[in-house]
Amino acid sequence: MRNKNVAIVGATGAVGREFVGCIENRGIPLASLKLLASPRSAGKTQMFRGQELTVETLTDDAFAGVDIALFSAGGSISRQYAPIAVKAGAVVVDNSSTFRTDTAVPLVIPEINARRIKDHKGIIANPNCAAITTLVPLWPIHRSNPVRRLIVSTYQAASGGGAALMEELEQSTRAYLDGNAYAPKVVKYPYAFNLFSHNTAIDMATGYNDEESKVIKETKKIFEDERIAVSATCIRVPVLRAHSVSMTFECERAITPDEVRGLLEKAPGVRIVDDWANNYFPMPKDASGQGDVLAGRIRTDLSDLSGKSISMFVAADQLLKGAALNAVQIAELL
Ligand SMILES: NC(=O)c1ccc[n+]([C@@H]2O[C@H](COP(=O)([O-])OP(=O)(O)OC[C@H]3O[C@@H](n4cnc5c(N)ncnc54)[C@H](OP(=O)(O)O)[C@@H]3O)[C@@H](O)[C@H]2O)c1
Repeated sequence: MRNKNVAIVGATGAVGREFVGCIENRGIPLASLKLLASPRSAGKTQMFRGQELTVETLTDDAFAGVDIALFSAGGSISRQYAPIAVKAGAVVVDNSSTFRTDTAVPLVIPEINARRIKDHKGIIANPNCAAITTLVPLWPIHRSNPVRRLIVSTYQAASGGGAALMEELEQSTRAYLDGNAYAPKVVKYPYAFNLFSHNTAIDMATGYNDEESKVIKETKKIFEDERIAVSATCIRVPVLRAHSVSMTFECERAITPDEVRGLLEKAPGVRIVDDWANNYFPMPKDASGQGDVLAGRIRTDLSDLSGKSISMFVAADQLLKGAALNAVQIAELL
């Protein structure tokens, strides 16, 4: 990524703004940075390293001279413009789900499968944010003692649904506290002081929603292991930023919480927050604004008498490690 011409597609969005921040904070020297969004944002400005950059409209010609294009403007934009960017000579790192299950497209979490980056044919997919939050701490365990069954329940923040959903949580909460009525605009459920099943479509054959299916499929693809049995329940909670995940997993052999702690202490991208005495464990508040996945509540699953199962609770800033930071890490490795 050093000294390259970089474009951000969706630069005004929740993830897009974090791309700019990640590049700036990591001190990556670029040849140029181009900010692209819809015509609604053309002419808006954003600061980058003390310089005011003007947002441009995304067009077919926007990728001339671009080496790396970071996409986060939704699936339909990726489907339409990623091939155009590749044709113009750019490598695309895409945040949407469009290419994730395409067998020709690497799906990469650098701490797990950075080696897959070199297989790219122009596009590299960034995994689902709940999947990244779950898999970064699970990988070192899986490598040591293969996980055979995984059950996850997510507590997903408004920011996972983009800038508009964050605004909806803030506005509906303010209205609720002021005793005013609020008509939801982004999701069909009241969001203030409420939670609801993830606002993606339900597969009528299985009953799983789209987010849950992504976690299931992406776990198998990233771990390159079709034998892991996965079930997920994805829930949107009234937290502004950072996802949390409760997971229980069964390994091939018996495993202790101390073994898990030992593995996670050495794991890149993981920080243990597991203070039993003070009842202090991972929280979205602590996960926000930093790049590690926080892991705690590491304990034996007492419902499995074989001693092969562990339960734990993790939290990560899904706008950073779940999206922009993971994509920038991929771009750095390019
Ligand atoms: N939020 C997350 O935690 C997260 C995590 C992983 C992946 N993702 C994926 O990242 C993508 C963006 O998510 P987000 O949360 O950042 O959404 P967002 O806050 O709604 O931002 C969407 C961005 O896309 C741009 N856009 C929309 N229509 C466009 C068009 N026709 N042409 C060019 N740009 C257009 C918007 O520009 P305007 O401001 O001009 O409308 C804005 O910059 C989605 O595919 C999402 O699934 C998000």
